Amino acid sequence: MDPNKRPETMERITSPELAQAFIDEQLAALKKQIGQEKVLLALSGGVDSSVVAALLIKAIGDQLVCVHVNHGLLRKGEPEMVVKVFREELGANLVYVDAVDRFLDKLAGVDDPETKRKIIGKEFIDVFAEEAGKLDGIKFLGQGTIYPDILESDGVKAHHNVGGLPEDLQFELVEPVKLLYKDEVRVVGKQLGLPDSMVYRQPFPGPGLGVRCVGAITADRLEAVREADAIVREEIDKMNPAPWQYFVAIPDFKSTGIKDDKRYMGWAAVIRAVNTVDAVTAESVELPWDMLCRIRDRIIAEVPGINRVLWDISDKPTSTIEWE
Ligand code: XMP
Repeated sequence: MDPNKRPETMERITSPELAQAFIDEQLAALKKQIGQEKVLLALSGGVDSSVVAALLIKAIGDQLVCVHVNHGLLRKGEPEMVVKVFREELGANLVYVDAVDRFLDKLAGVDDPETKRKIIGKEFIDVFAEEAGKLDGIKFLGQGTIYPDILESDGVKAHHNVGGLPEDLQFELVEPVKLLYKDEVRVVGKQLGLPDSMVYRQPFPGPGLGVRCVGAITADRLEAVREADAIVREEIDKMNPAPWQYFVAIPDFKSTGIKDDKRYMGWAAVIRAVNTVDAVTAESVELPWDMLCRIRDRIIAEVPGINRVLWDISDKPTSTIEWE
């Protein structure tokens, strides 16, 4: 039997009971696979790695070492949330790495989107490998591979290509959710007691806010993206149902504004909200006018450097969902 093929008889996990049965089965399998060895896991705070972490904490407790790399491209409050949930509430052995300056240095002046992605991916692997190198006796690497990763990209997570770890850091893989679809991972995460904000987190690109701070990233514009994004999420979260994905992008240009009777140059925050089934095509979502006005007022009042708010009503195609 191919371990990377979902058996046709495998029931879709749609209920807490089915999730609990999956959890019980996986805990036994993980204990058997890992024994007394140690496991290392890159914990981004995304749904998949969070569910794998929660499963491994239950199965092997202290034998799991989680590494959270804060590359500065996460959304507001996310690194804090990872520490709170995993270290404080679940008692995980968590190494928190503040790599913000390191990423910003490497990205300084780089405006080509693919080069930015490559730098972010490579730097992530370098930081993670450095942390791994500091730890002794690790035999396994935990990964949040899910079934679509296997079907679509040879089992390699598109965003955190830990498959690219250096030769001397090759581990055996532990991939407890590799046969699950995303919706099933969420049901399992909920059953494991993870907070809704993690379990139902909207899709977020691996390079994070890096692709929404359009052009060459600067610390101040990146901070503006993070703050404006938090406002947009807070407001659009009130919609029921909320769109599939919604965020802010800030392009690398300034336009004229007026403050205290003086002209000044500021950035434009672009609101984007889309619905899609598979992210291959997407439709712009009609946001209520009063909501748009509230978002505009809050962004202008609360986010330094922004003097203009735009709404991107483009569909995919011809526009992609992200701006880069
Ligand atoms: P686009 O912009 O191509 O995005 O229409 C489609 C979906 O993919 C996400 N996206 C990414 N996810 N790494 C990722 O893990 C990336 O580099 C990346 N670029 C885009 C995007 O957020 C959307 O959901």
